[in-house]
Amino acid sequence: MRRQDFPILQEEMNGSPLVYLDNAATTQKPALVLHAMDAYYRTSNANVHRAAHGLADEATRAYEGARDRLRHFINAAHREEIIFTSGTTASINLLAATLGSRLGRGDRILITELEHHSNIVPWQLLAERTGASLIAARVTESGDVDLDDFHKKLQPAPAIVAFGHVSNALGSVHPIAGMIRAARDAGAITVIDGAQALAHLPVDVQALGCDFYAGSAHKMYGPTGTGLLYGRRELLEALPPWQGGGEMIEEVTLTGSTWNALPYKFEAGTPNIAGVIGFGAAIEFLEGLSWDDVRSHEQRLISRCVAELRQMPEVRLVGEPAERAGVVSFLVEGSHPHDIGTLLDQQGVAVRTGHHCAMPLMTCLGVPGTVRASFGLYNSDDDVDRFVTALRKSLTFI
Ligand SMILES: Cc1ncc(COP(=O)(O)O)c(C=O)c1O
Repeated sequence: MRRQDFPILQEEMNGSPLVYLDNAATTQKPALVLHAMDAYYRTSNANVHRAAHGLADEATRAYEGARDRLRHFINAAHREEIIFTSGTTASINLLAATLGSRLGRGDRILITELEHHSNIVPWQLLAERTGASLIAARVTESGDVDLDDFHKKLQPAPAIVAFGHVSNALGSVHPIAGMIRAARDAGAITVIDGAQALAHLPVDVQALGCDFYAGSAHKMYGPTGTGLLYGRRELLEALPPWQGGGEMIEEVTLTGSTWNALPYKFEAGTPNIAGVIGFGAAIEFLEGLSWDDVRSHEQRLISRCVAELRQMPEVRLVGEPAERAGVVSFLVEGSHPHDIGTLLDQQGVAVRTGHHCAMPLMTCLGVPGTVRASFGLYNSDDDVDRFVTALRKSLTFI
């Protein structure tokens, strides 16, 4: 699907055409995104919002246009509910820093054992600062959230419940609509880490009913250093600002300051303008596709990959979740994941190995790490076959 739109996929790696199966780490960028960023710097580079000249108007229109696209993409009710950040990590840190005013000693923050470190560590820091405690719903053997345990841990009600939409380590798609409903019914603020979902599934934040939803452009065929935080307007309005500086203020005196309206209250300083414009182009690219096609293409690749791996007696799949997006994780008995990754790389196949920034999950599953093949919409049956052939060859070396 649309491989020709991605210039880097025409490159070779170690003498072989590149098979890129590290999309959960970052996706490749289509020419549309590269052109949008290049055109901004070539023809409309200026700082946004502030100046009276035409170039600044152009830059501001392109920057704010990306916000409108993103609002539509995730079906937020209002454009000022879309905050541009440097990525999912920054979005969650913004929340952990600003939600502190609502937390005190004895309060609980509930996450799950499947979280990426960026949906764990900011909450640990918040818990340390406030005297709150961090608890985690268990993972099942199949790599899903243990829903019984999740529901049990909603009583007494946590102040904040934060969990991923899709696991970056195992690909499990969590039944987040029901989890959000239960958390909100218990009276908690809900935070969704959507880093691994937004390029794989349609996301409708109003239908989901979450309070906050975070994502990263670079995992959605957009540039690095750009991301989003969606927040319900009344909650964002009630939160204090995060970083101070230009753009986020209404008035500054030497004795105090007042804050700009949303979304600018949370966008201090000169933003990553080219990155946001590239993010807008990535959304345009994704909106040009049908989710049914994206889903069925990806599911076919995953099924083909899983079926082949099952035929190899040395290979153990890690996680067999009820619903999967983007990721297949596995181990080869008797060899370290890094060795497999290196042997695959020598044959032009890029996968990721290690703990995938989910060390607590690896500990719960009793594995040191995994080999992770993760798929994007440009991957093909041929990529799966080349990966499988390279893996079979690697097994003969160990
Ligand atoms: C589930 C999940 N959450 C958060 C992140 C952090 O994203 P970023 O590094 O773009 O801030 C990642 C990145 O791999 C992820 O997979």
